Amino acid sequence: MKGKKIVLGITGSIAAYKAAYLVRAFIKKGAEVQVVMTPSAKEFITPVTMSALTGKPVVSEFFAANDGTWHSHVDLGLWADAMVIAPASANTLGKMAHGVADNMLVTCYLSCKAPVFIAPAMDLDMFAHPSTQRNLELLRSYGNHIIEPAEGELASHLQGKGRMEEPDRIVEIVSSFFASEQRLQKKKIVITAGPTYEKIDPVRFIGNYSSGKMGFALAEVCAERGAEVELVAGPVSLKTVHPAIRRTNVESAQEMYDAVIRLYPDADAAIMCAAVADYRPQERAEKKIKRNTDDMTLTLVPNPDIAAALGKIKRPEQLLVGFALETDNEEQNALSKMQRKNLDFIVLNSLQEPGAGFRCDTNRITILSRDGEKQTFGLKSKKEVAGDIVDKLIEKLHL
Ligand code: CTP
Repeated sequence: MKGKKIVLGITGSIAAYKAAYLVRAFIKKGAEVQVVMTPSAKEFITPVTMSALTGKPVVSEFFAANDGTWHSHVDLGLWADAMVIAPASANTLGKMAHGVADNMLVTCYLSCKAPVFIAPAMDLDMFAHPSTQRNLELLRSYGNHIIEPAEGELASHLQGKGRMEEPDRIVEIVSSFFASEQRLQKKKIVITAGPTYEKIDPVRFIGNYSSGKMGFALAEVCAERGAEVELVAGPVSLKTVHPAIRRTNVESAQEMYDAVIRLYPDADAAIMCAAVADYRPQERAEKKIKRNTDDMTLTLVPNPDIAAALGKIKRPEQLLVGFALETDNEEQNALSKMQRKNLDFIVLNSLQEPGAGFRCDTNRITILSRDGEKQTFGLKSKKEVAGDIVDKLIEKLHL
């Protein structure tokens, strides 16, 4: 945590008193902390306490009293290496989930490009309410890290889930995030993403519903952890922002194959996340095919299997990861795919799972490894799922 800049957002919850301990724990670890408070947080703990602990004035209003000074939420959001909102009340969760930027804390959150950690604190019934749960789900799907509240006695004297996680544990979660952050430094990772389009004529193609979101999230996480990423993307409308991601745009399976075969020999690992079309039309019409009354037959020929081709040229120190999207006999099919393509591990997502697979922002995966290991994960945002997959990759690369 040494030298890390933390924006700590405090909201109106009785657990606000724990924020003082939290600041102390961050500072002890070498972090610099800037506190942002909502107006109601100040009813629970004074800004004087927080500024005395951080050595910085607390930011709470858009404008400093009467002297025309404007506090820039954009500057604060960009200054942060991480934003931690603890305690996060149900009200603030709702505002963050829906972009209601009526206070300094939520505007900072909306401007923040750094990872955001949210530690909810509220009474058990408020926490269990479908609207709170829906808001948390939304916040998760935006890539935020939710630090689940603990079970125990609450301020209302009721027992249940809603108690803000202990400050030491929050600091541990944030610092282990930073520790794992640069584990892929000096590693080169090839990632395929999105669908492929197989041309029928100048205006038509065979494609699939893949959005590319999972592969782009993987590229982002690998880059954030220090890797140099070669992203080979089929036709998708997504943008890449991280400077360590080099993108090669392709359209067909053959183009994707050519790019990946060229890039893999210099890579430490490849993650095959693209939904590659298994077949392409044998003939591609030069001109638009005209309608007539006869039946039409399209002859398809197999495309190269990119993952299998990499499996054949893979050196012992290189890793190869594949995906399987199955509708039946899921595990058995995934395991045989892993063998057939010589993969080190395979990520299985099921089309039967609500919220998983194509076009969703969330995913639920199981990782099956060569050594017989099986690990199942809960429903998470694609960014969080990417984090789990990259953690496994780091483990298998023995980093
Ligand atoms: N894959 C690939 N090249 C192909 C087909 C698939 O690289 N031509 C990769 C995918 O990116 C994925 C894995 O292989 O990582 C499994 O893809 P999937 O479509 O599930 O498998 P197929 O081999 O096409 O098997 P099937 O269609 O019979 O399920």
